[in-house]
Amino acid sequence: MVNSMFMSCLASLVWCFSLLLLNSHSYFAYRSNETDRLALLAIKSQLQDPLGVTSSWNNSMNLCQWTGVTCGHRHPRVTALDLSNRSIGGTLSPFVGNLSFLRVINLTDNDFYGKIPNEVGRVLRLEILLLTNNSFSGKKYHPICLIALTSLIFFCVRTS
Ligand SMILES: *[C@@H]1O[C@H](CO)[C@@H](O)[C@H](O)[C@H]1NC(C)=O
Ligand SMILES: *[C@@H]1O[C@H](CO)[C@@H](O)[C@H](O)[C@H]1NC(C)=O
Ligand SMILES: *[C@@H]1O[C@H](CO)[C@@H](O)[C@H](O)[C@H]1NC(C)=O
Ligand SMILES: *[C@@H]1O[C@H](CO)[C@@H](O)[C@H](O)[C@H]1NC(C)=O
Ligand SMILES: *[C@@H]1O[C@H](CO)[C@@H](O)[C@H](O)[C@H]1NC(C)=O
Ligand SMILES: *[C@@H]1O[C@H](CO)[C@@H](O)[C@H](O)[C@H]1NC(C)=O
Repeated sequence: MVNSMFMSCLASLVWCFSLLLLNSHSYFAYRSNETDRLALLAIKSQLQDPLGVTSSWNNSMNLCQWTGVTCGHRHPRVTALDLSNRSIGGTLSPFVGNLSFLRVINLTDNDFYGKIPNEVGRVLRLEILLLTNNSFSGKKYHPICLIALTSLIFFCVRTS
């Protein structure tokens, strides 16, 4: 029993470490806000957004002015995504893993479903992940890895 727990823990750590190695190259390489733009548009494409919250996510607006999107002070890169309490449904795109400057994801009080993409684990700067009051299943999620890769995680899922 203890042995199998140890093995599964070890397997998770190996998985985390290989993820870190695989991603370190692209992580340190230059990434433009074009990557952020493509990622947000991919996220939008998987949402049901009856209130049209993401209608400002269009090419005539700077992405730092898109609703729910916050950029850093020095760089036009996305640091927070807050779509909480917006009646949004749908699944979370794996492209979220390309928002490499993201610190906060707040999807609280919506109707997101499906699995939480493993790509969330690629967002090395992520500090706060709030998914409370959605319908995520997240069976294949690797919370151990998130803890290993980031300094601070508030991970809460309450299925509705
Ligand atoms: C882009 O979003 C802005 C703000 O919501 C809106 O005023 C504008 O009409 C939109 N443009 C297009 C092409 O949808
Ligand atoms: C990307 O950043 C540049 C430079 O700050 C800015 O001019 C451009 O509008 C940004 N692109 C988008 C899609 O926001
Ligand atoms: C997340 O969204 C909830 C609901 O809108 C809000 O109360 C909370 O302050 C937000 N937290 C962060 C860290 O953005
Ligand atoms: C959620 O949105 C509804 C409708 O816009 C509003 O009445 C309510 O106060 C919001 N709740 C939170 C926690 O922000
Ligand atoms: C972003 O993420 C997706 C899915 O995780 C991937 O297919 C794509 O190649 C990534 N890179 C860019 C630059 O969009
Ligand atoms: C969960 O979110 C829905 C909106 O999607 C809201 O109406 C409901 O009050 C929330 N439930 C709790 C317990 O906060």
